[in-house]
Amino acid sequence: MKKNFFIAFEGIDGSGKSTQVKLLKEKLEAAGLKVYTTCEPTDSPMGKMIRDVFNHRMEADHRTIAALFVADRLDHLLNKTNGILKMLADGYTVITDRYYLSSYAYQSPYMDLDWVIKANSLSADLLRPDLNIYIDITPEVSIDRLNKGRTSIELYETLENLQNVSTKYAEIIELLKNEEKILIIDGNRSVEDIAADIWINIQKQFIGEMQ
Ligand code: ADP
Ligand code: TYD
Repeated sequence: MKKNFFIAFEGIDGSGKSTQVKLLKEKLEAAGLKVYTTCEPTDSPMGKMIRDVFNHRMEADHRTIAALFVADRLDHLLNKTNGILKMLADGYTVITDRYYLSSYAYQSPYMDLDWVIKANSLSADLLRPDLNIYIDITPEVSIDRLNKGRTSIELYETLENLQNVSTKYAEIIELLKNEEKILIIDGNRSVEDIAADIWINIQKQFIGEMQ
């Protein structure tokens, strides 16, 4: 019987997560799996509130933002209609564009990392990813891509911020290397090369279950 997996993509803004989520979904579906893709912040009312803050339509303190992410994530897991736990129970492999490692990296410059980890422990205890895929890209390449693709700049999308977040990701990956399964992928390459690298690793990781 095929097992279904939970995979979380991580990386700084513009690292190519959503591009790779889409390509991995296609490959897994071609391999015969049912795949559900999702993202954080979500489309729930809480996720919308977060996006309003990020798009400067609403103002909120960084502590409030951190708490909103915690709540949005719990709803992302537990929502009875399309929550991740329900989709997994229905036999879908779930791929999310961002999960709790994003909060560890993005909120910890403003909040104590221990607090962020503790506040997210309800989610981590409910569901840890079978695999986190961290797309490692330099902040300079990322800003360049974002400037080409978008007209408005979100809250955390400055070079200085992305450098901070990138450093935090590196620290967190080192800190959690024994607790979390984290695959680091060099994202400073072509879309196709990155997708091929991810696919080789996914096959290696889940080979028994996917046959
Ligand atoms: P994220 O979801 O991590 O913010 P996206 O997948 O939306 O990143 O990619 C950000 C921008 O960079 C998009 O315009 C996308 O088309 C482009 N892009 C994604 N991957 C690559 C790549 N490997 N090389 C060049 N441009 C890329
Ligand atoms: P997202 O829409 O994924 O941005 P991008 O596609 O550019 O990566 O996420 C929006 C922003 O939310 C992004 O700057 C990262 C931030 N974020 C946090 O600060 N904490 C979190 O827990 C999550 C999930 C995202």
